[in-house]
Amino acid sequence: MNTHPQRVAFEAREMAQTLITIRDAQKTYHSERGDIAALRDINLDVAAGEFVSILGPSGCGKSTLLKCIGGLHPLTGGAIEIAGKPVLEPPEDTGFVFQRDVLLDWRTVVDNVLLPAEFQRLPRAKWEPRALELLVTLGLEGFGSRYPWELSGGMRQRVAICRSLLLDPGLLLMDEPFGALDAITRDELNMELERIWDRSKKTVLFVTHSISEAIFLSDRVVVMDKNPGRIAAIVEIDLPRPRSLAIRETPEFVRYGKELRSIFENLGIMKRSAG
Ligand SMILES: Nc1ncnc2c1ncn2[C@@H]1O[C@H](COP(=O)(O)OP(=O)(O)OP(=O)(O)O)[C@@H](O)[C@H]1O
Ligand SMILES: [Mg+2]
Repeated sequence: MNTHPQRVAFEAREMAQTLITIRDAQKTYHSERGDIAALRDINLDVAAGEFVSILGPSGCGKSTLLKCIGGLHPLTGGAIEIAGKPVLEPPEDTGFVFQRDVLLDWRTVVDNVLLPAEFQRLPRAKWEPRALELLVTLGLEGFGSRYPWELSGGMRQRVAICRSLLLDPGLLLMDEPFGALDAITRDELNMELERIWDRSKKTVLFVTHSISEAIFLSDRVVVMDKNPGRIAAIVEIDLPRPRSLAIRETPEFVRYGKELRSIFENLGIMKRSAG
């Protein structure tokens, strides 16, 4: 049988074990000005090795969802399980890149990258070479002994990504890691992340506002709507891998862009384009 290689990859992934199970997840924040329904009836399964983006307007609960999966915020209803275990605290084997890079300004770049090893009391001598290697991979060779305040925004974000990758976690939770970057740096880091994911087959949950970034990186794009924060649609991205930036000009990529834009138009989040 002459089966398309991409189809084989999809079938393999469909057979992959479910890593994350989210069932009827609810999150309500109680504030002085009343309750905010940040997440309502979220149901989602993520397979091991899958790259899933979460796309949606500001305030729809993307960061909240990631923090609940990462065990940083408790749900107010429903359940999240990772590898069959309920998430009650930050799970092991998980790297987190926050919406704003949270680097410690009094520690050098390499010492920031080494933080996860330090938390786990792992020997520095063993992990420092890995930290330096990651800095090279992310284009920061020679910056290990600098301080975060000496770096540009894009460089700081790369340090935060190195830190999340240090212990080679199986699950990576990334909250708009490239949101504050210029278009060229963003393109570069998109490619780097695609390469890292392709090599290491991590499971990645990636929050973004960018339709193009979501299509480029993902196996599936989860579209959220707000008030209350909920899943409005899930779009499977059946594009060959590895992907290069040129894929953005292909008719298939453009078609996914139109599909996602029309979902946002139908939700009233985006104005309908003329023609
Ligand atoms: N700690 C908190 N206390 C009270 N309300 C909160 C808290 N964190 C978030 N919210 C509210 O919950 C809703 C979802 O917020 P969240 O940060 O998850 O949105 P988001 O989709 O990540 O937005 P953005 O794209 O702007 O980052 C918003 O209405 C926000 O005001
Ligand atoms: Mg957010």
